[in-house]
Amino acid sequence: CGIVGYIGNRDAQPILLNGLSKLEYRGYDSAGVAVLEQDRIKISKVEGRLANLSGRLDHRPLKGSAGIGHTRWATHGKPSDANSHPHADMSGKFTVVHNGIVENYMALKKELERKGIVFTSETDTEVIAHLLAEQYQGDLVAAVRAVIRKLQGAYSLGVMTEHEPDKLVAVRQSSPLVVGAGQGENFLASDIAALLEHTRYVHILDDGDVAVMTPERISIIKAETGEPVNRKPVRIDWHADQVEKGQFEHFMLKEIHEQPLTLRNTMLGRINDRDEVSFPELAPAAGAFKDVEKIFIVACGTAYHAGLVGGAMIEKLTRIPVQCDIASEFRYRDPIITDRTLVVVVSQSGETADTLAALHESRRRGAKVLAITNVPTSSIARDADFVIPTMAGPEIAVASTKAYTTQLLAFCLFSIYLAQEKRTLGQKLHAELVQGLKALPVQVEKVLENANEVKLFAESIKDADSLFFIGRGLDYAVALEGSLKLKEISYIHSEAYAAGELKHGTLALIEKDTPVIALVTHMELYEKTVSNIKEVKARGARVMGITVEGNVELLNAADEICFIPPSLQLLAPILAVVPLQLIAYYASLALGNDIDKPRNLAKSVTVE
Ligand code: G6P
Repeated sequence: CGIVGYIGNRDAQPILLNGLSKLEYRGYDSAGVAVLEQDRIKISKVEGRLANLSGRLDHRPLKGSAGIGHTRWATHGKPSDANSHPHADMSGKFTVVHNGIVENYMALKKELERKGIVFTSETDTEVIAHLLAEQYQGDLVAAVRAVIRKLQGAYSLGVMTEHEPDKLVAVRQSSPLVVGAGQGENFLASDIAALLEHTRYVHILDDGDVAVMTPERISIIKAETGEPVNRKPVRIDWHADQVEKGQFEHFMLKEIHEQPLTLRNTMLGRINDRDEVSFPELAPAAGAFKDVEKIFIVACGTAYHAGLVGGAMIEKLTRIPVQCDIASEFRYRDPIITDRTLVVVVSQSGETADTLAALHESRRRGAKVLAITNVPTSSIARDADFVIPTMAGPEIAVASTKAYTTQLLAFCLFSIYLAQEKRTLGQKLHAELVQGLKALPVQVEKVLENANEVKLFAESIKDADSLFFIGRGLDYAVALEGSLKLKEISYIHSEAYAAGELKHGTLALIEKDTPVIALVTHMELYEKTVSNIKEVKARGARVMGITVEGNVELLNAADEICFIPPSLQLLAPILAVVPLQLIAYYASLALGNDIDKPRNLAKSVTVE
């Protein structure tokens, strides 16, 4: 979900709506705003996309210069007008927007109902509004502090009351929230992207912080003790135009095309004149990885897929054993961690609750944690021991593209860095790798320029019931990502299979004309993968091969081919994934789907 808030002297409604439009990628089941009109709070909220809310507000605008807003990704209660935020108490004088889950809300709700409170929604959030009304004794901050003592779970809140019209109160507990500092006005948001148009100076709230905002002031206190927190605002380098689509029809297409630039940016300053890899960010950690005996890579979704490739890179170059885990599984399976274990968490947003929980669990068990993340101010970046920022810039489309390729690049750089420390990398391979890395941005440009075949192929699969992605080794890891991309935005069922495993069961699903995308970039496994292609061809499949330039021979086995420029095996995934991103994009476009905001998903999931 996304939260925004504004207090100042301008019209709040357009600022809130604009902020929500930047956060819509975090959830888009419903949206709403509450604005203080003179001395009354007025709420407008509606199921569906933000456009529905804008339409309603065009018809009946809310006039006032303080307000809060929300865009929802449903957890408790289906998407509906009533379940949309903001939620109010029975008098309508207290209103709240909330991200996260109040885990004990059922008990709280029953208690309130016994006292005669009537609930109007099925959400966990509504209890907060009623509790605020119950606890209020003339001091909003005191009431908020009293209420959150009763709450269990993860939440960030924006609160407003008619009793204290010059104030917004915000709380952060395990769910991200930032306060933007303006001149005579201040802003609240769950993500920096919503603030960039207004200010570059941002207070990142910590768990247990309560921020009290007036037009003139921002003060932060600790919820538990009431002590003031003295924390300077941080300056954000992202630009407002990075969160605009520009000439592209969709953010996803824009972000796919940004990859040559984002790869360059992620490499920048990390390869010196002697072709050594160094991370200025890791300078204080010099030697910290020397004794590492085991590495876990923990992440969700696309970031997990990046980890699969990253793990192979680390093992290959350093011979340190690596295990990749899905974050929501990792923390509950009693992983074997010692003080010689390094846990690498990967997260575009840096806010994914499952990954953050895995990070905390790893540290609790004594591991050192390195975060590879795109948001250096995020919770994951702040709670990790070491951070490698990927320099992808804001990623808006729900389906991750440029974040994934920069994560692969960061992993490759980190593998070389570790190998330098452990002296496990021969000079020749080192030189080849660095040369290969430097060539990548131009090679990706080339793949993007030759996108026509994949576009045609993508259009041709739009009515398929099911698709298969196959590959061996790193090609299999890339296949997993390609399949996820396709499912996320085209809603066509697909599965990624290790090419050699297909014959052990899944081959039963191949019928006449079943599309199969075969990745064949491992030349040492070439013959074996071609045999697997022949197996599916013999059952009627239609095969699109993705292989390295010059390998025209594959045309003897596959029906169509897309070529990627030659590169080292470890780097091929960064090139091979690009046609797969485009296949997902163009298939979804042909189907007329909402590409940037696929159904049921959210960009950043801050609940476990
Ligand atoms: C969500 C998104 C995925 C993303 C995953 C992990 O489920 O829809 O696209 O890969 O979260 O996100 P993170 O920000 O931690 O990389």
